[in-house]
Amino acid sequence: MGRVITLENVTKRYGAFTAVDDVSFTAQPGRVTGFLGPNGAGKSTSMRVMVGLTPPNGGRATIGGHLYSQIPNPARHVGVLLDASAQHAGRTGREVLRISADTMGVGPKRVEEMLELVGLSGNEAKRRVRNYSLGMRQRLGIANAFLGDPSVLILDEPVNGLDPAGIHWMRGLLRQFASQGGTVLLSSHLLHEVEMIADDMILIGRGKIVAQGTKAELLQTRGTYVKPEDPAALLQALQGAGVEAIPSGDGGFRSEAEPIDIGRAAAAAGVVLIELKPAEGAGLEEMFLQLTSDDARESITAQGVQV
Ligand SMILES: Nc1ncnc2c1ncn2[C@@H]1O[C@H](COP(=O)(O)OP(=O)(O)O)[C@@H](O)[C@H]1O
Ligand SMILES: [Mg+2]
Repeated sequence: MGRVITLENVTKRYGAFTAVDDVSFTAQPGRVTGFLGPNGAGKSTSMRVMVGLTPPNGGRATIGGHLYSQIPNPARHVGVLLDASAQHAGRTGREVLRISADTMGVGPKRVEEMLELVGLSGNEAKRRVRNYSLGMRQRLGIANAFLGDPSVLILDEPVNGLDPAGIHWMRGLLRQFASQGGTVLLSSHLLHEVEMIADDMILIGRGKIVAQGTKAELLQTRGTYVKPEDPAALLQALQGAGVEAIPSGDGGFRSEAEPIDIGRAAAAAGVVLIELKPAEGAGLEEMFLQLTSDDARESITAQGVQV
């Protein structure tokens, strides 16, 4: 079976509210794709559409070209972790996996291997899930997702509740899975966690995709910071050269133009520069901060950014 996750124009409305708005993207085999957005952005809804739990109002989501609901014994192909708190609280971790294994037609040996894989062997596997910490539930959820030896993983906020060592462990696990040709799509509302784990990133805000690309593309700094001796003179020189610049409030300016173009315009007008450098923190971090601050959401989604 193919391994590409594809969303084509997926829209999901709840009454008059559009939770997922014309979302299209792919997650590729051999890559870890981070699905990043603030709380309420539409990540979980999109993932529920992918695994056939929420019917979309428009568009479709396929895995290897098939609707999830059309894949026979889907857990053998697609490992899913949705809400880690939704596991049967009254059962032990081992029981939860055994029941899953029975459903998928996987032997009990695999259950023990998966408990080992996620570090829940021994006493922890015997405890009831209601007594698990969020981190332990996440580990159990990961064990469950890996149980059917899938080639595609869809994981909703798997890093939530993990400590730094747990995040590091998760990163190694998912990287190894991808290096063997698997497809990983994981969501998070935390930029830095996705940054650590993902090769590709999809940024969603208010139900709309606002940026997507490789991590390298999205994190690269764009534009220039320049600080002149005489701000008015520089602004005039830049305007003369047709270069747009916005005051940054400290006597300097930010511009979409490259440093060389700013430098040339300043030199041509004889303007002295105190600082001239690639802008820091541009791109993804700024975009993400804007998404998380209510008032700026409209402008950033209306603009849309495709890297
Ligand atoms: N069953 C539902 N009924 C009504 N609104 C919903 C339902 N599920 C999700 N939503 C709304 O859709 C939006 C997106 O939710 P969700 O996909 O859970 O976002 P995320 O996972 O990115 O935090 C939120 O505003 C949420 O309140
Ligand atoms: Mg969610």
